[in-house]
Amino acid sequence: MIYTLTLNPAVDRELTVQAVAFDEVLRTSASRVDYGGKGFNVSRLLKSLGIASTAVGFLGGRSGEMLRTGLQELGIGTDFVWVPGETRTNISIVTESHDHYIKVNERGPLVEKAQQEELLAKIDGIAQPGDWWVLAGSLPPGVEEDFYARIVRVLNRHQAKVVLDTTGDALRLGCAERPFLVKPNAEEAHALTGLPVGNVTEICRVAGEIRQMGAENVVISMGKAGALMHSAEGSWLVGTPKVEERNPIGAGDSMVGGLIWALTRGLDLKACLACGVACGAATASQGGTEVGSRELIERLISQVTFLPL
Ligand SMILES: Nc1ncnc2c1ncn2[C@@H]1O[C@H](COP(=O)(O)OP(=O)(O)OP(=O)(O)O)[C@@H](O)[C@H]1O
Ligand SMILES: [Mg+2]
Repeated sequence: MIYTLTLNPAVDRELTVQAVAFDEVLRTSASRVDYGGKGFNVSRLLKSLGIASTAVGFLGGRSGEMLRTGLQELGIGTDFVWVPGETRTNISIVTESHDHYIKVNERGPLVEKAQQEELLAKIDGIAQPGDWWVLAGSLPPGVEEDFYARIVRVLNRHQAKVVLDTTGDALRLGCAERPFLVKPNAEEAHALTGLPVGNVTEICRVAGEIRQMGAENVVISMGKAGALMHSAEGSWLVGTPKVEERNPIGAGDSMVGGLIWALTRGLDLKACLACGVACGAATASQGGTEVGSRELIERLISQVTFLPL
């Protein structure tokens, strides 16, 4: 089974207006609502590939209900811990010509220790050997930086495999618990290690350093410049397929989804990486928050190139 964990999800509401102005009422020409969360994005990509997954995390209030129902309607399983307060809503106001935007993110509800322990107990109760868990995104207010590390410890005890995609101290502490794979982008890898990431040699050194921190396998994604994997099976610089970029936000989440898809099929790491970059490229080529289709992803996989390092 595949589980995706999102600790600080959001209702993402995007309002399109002709022009942004202060001190007057703006009228929308379009509006949309998305189920915002890095783990949810992974589940949506998996769904597009026809793979079932269960979304786990914290939800609260009516917006939490809306997210749960929305995910279920997409065919994604749900198993949440409910917190007092309201799951956050993030608002984007964008102009029709896409030349300006205003984005306001709420902090999210405070998650008390009791609910944190409830989530750890839930994970302890459902994790099975051979399951795959994606832990992705930022931490909500009230949750300490070692929370992902604690979850990795529980999952490793059950011999479940963990892919961790977060930043900063949460990533550093998580790495020390030996997750199967971490996937920072180049900027996040630089922030984690303090080392330069200006060229392939430097990025390869940074990836090696992150393995020293404890992660078994490291993929550093570099947007349209592709990705680099550092693992016991080998290290490669991977060329991503050329696509017309429409919205690269969420490409990394799709990459994680592609990696998981291939990993659950037992492919070797190099083949998994090809799936990952193809899924990232497919999503970057879509507008809005759409993820790539299975047909497009399968076409792009054959265009991935490898350079052994
Ligand atoms: N414009 C693009 N063209 C081709 N492939 C892309 C493009 N943008 C992203 N990708 C693919 O997606 C992968 C992940 O993208 P990126 O490095 O931007 O992730 P990220 O910064 O973690 O994104 P996010 O956190 O918003 O999901 C890249 O390694 C690459 O394979
Ligand atoms: Mg990312």
